[in-house]
Amino acid sequence: MSRLLLIDDEADVQYSFQRILDSPEIELTTASSGEEGLKVIPRFKPDLVMMDVRMGGMTGLETLRRIRQMDSKLLVILMTAYGTTQTAIEAMKLGAYDYLLKPFDVPKLKEIVLGALKAARDMKQVVSYQPLLESEDYEQGIVGRSEAMQQVFKLIGQLAASDATALITGESGTGKELVARAIYHHSNRSPQAFLTVNCAAIPEQLLESELFGHERGAFTGATVQRIGKFEQCNRGTIFMDEIGDMTPATQTKILRVLQSGTFERVGGNTPIQVDVRVIAATNKPLEQAVAARHFREDLFYRLNVVRIHIPPLRERREDIPLLVNYFLKKFARDQQRDPKPIGPGVSKLLEKYHWPGNVRELENVVRRALVVTKGEAILSSDLPAEINGQGAVLTTALPTADNANSDVAALARQLFQWARREPKMKIIPAVERELVIQALKETDGNQVHAAKLLGMTRATLRKRVEKFGIQRELSIK
Ligand SMILES: Nc1ncnc2c1ncn2[C@@H]1O[C@H](COP(=O)(O)OP(=O)(O)OP(=O)(O)O)[C@@H](O)[C@H]1O
Ligand SMILES: [Mg+2]
Repeated sequence: MSRLLLIDDEADVQYSFQRILDSPEIELTTASSGEEGLKVIPRFKPDLVMMDVRMGGMTGLETLRRIRQMDSKLLVILMTAYGTTQTAIEAMKLGAYDYLLKPFDVPKLKEIVLGALKAARDMKQVVSYQPLLESEDYEQGIVGRSEAMQQVFKLIGQLAASDATALITGESGTGKELVARAIYHHSNRSPQAFLTVNCAAIPEQLLESELFGHERGAFTGATVQRIGKFEQCNRGTIFMDEIGDMTPATQTKILRVLQSGTFERVGGNTPIQVDVRVIAATNKPLEQAVAARHFREDLFYRLNVVRIHIPPLRERREDIPLLVNYFLKKFARDQQRDPKPIGPGVSKLLEKYHWPGNVRELENVVRRALVVTKGEAILSSDLPAEINGQGAVLTTALPTADNANSDVAALARQLFQWARREPKMKIIPAVERELVIQALKETDGNQVHAAKLLGMTRATLRKRVEKFGIQRELSIK
């Protein structure tokens, strides 16, 4: 449950908030003035404050200043009518999280509120990196006892004590964001803000402005000035996720801000000085991007000073039982039930599976098993087909040349249905990856033969091998 405080002197705004944000996950309290809001905060301990800029009594800006003094991490979104956007911009400089224009666009309002509540949770949720082994009480943490994870814990500890930039690498779902949050929580910047920017989720042309802001008229559509994340997050920590996806101009600016703490807003020429710690993450091999000249080498070296690599789950299978246990406890706690045990043979299946989606996939499998299970324990039949082998796609005879197409169609249908249950599943690359691995295994890594079996050129096969990062796995000659 998240707590939201609305500070606004207009009764109809209070009313529409109650209506729009009516949800069991949100507890809403209102205050009609800045003064009242300041009194409510210590008692109500909101996760997010939404506040009108123009109110009778203390202004929104003044209230914001006081809130910042009370708690420099509390997220504040300002609301402003057309014509007062300049104030909103001032507010961003004072560390407001965002601003909203009145009258509200309801979907936008919800999106901003939900985004802010997530940011607040990320900031608050303490991620323990003391190796969590069999602790009885559930605690949000990083689980692992493998040699590789011990190394990760050690690095987190060292990094937390310093202010150094860090680069976290690892396949999707290995826990990069979790590690970033652990570093932040244990750093001496933990009383300050922690903001996440997913570089891949923002269109390339907009990323630079998202990070550094822009001046009015900097480009078509830039009708007002905008304050970027670096300015907003001054003294705090920025987590730059999927850092591999940036234009050269943005890379140059990042390099400069890392070296000297200065930048200019897009279209501006006044240097702005900030003190921000950067933690970056990527699931793409940056070395390759550097070799292909898509990523600046100097920026790479600057980021790579301290590197935490989280190996894929299949390379640290001894962590699987611990993680399963951890997620069983976590979901039991979330649903206020006793944790269910896992039945015979289930551990083996889970430990054997190759987990292409890593810990995230494991988490989803456990969550889903708890939903579908009917008994007192989780059985192998509660696991997805690709893990328990039940629904093995090839139950029919292997296709012959004549019926190959219709059999392929049947297989594709099954695969597609299966993939639909995994919202994050990208079916084509996933299947392609497996086919490539299979063909290379069967041909002992002979790329010419493998390409022929797959019906692709050798050049295409090479590209796939690179794209899917499967060289190491197969140690191809
Ligand atoms: N060692 C771990 N212990 C407990 N939970 C973990 C661990 N590693 C990952 N998780 C959980 O798995 C999920 C995925 O982790 P996270 O989002 O940090 O991965 P990621 O590497 O950032 O993935 P992506 O590259 O797809 O963004 C999260 O719910 C996270 O809490
Ligand atoms: Mg991530």
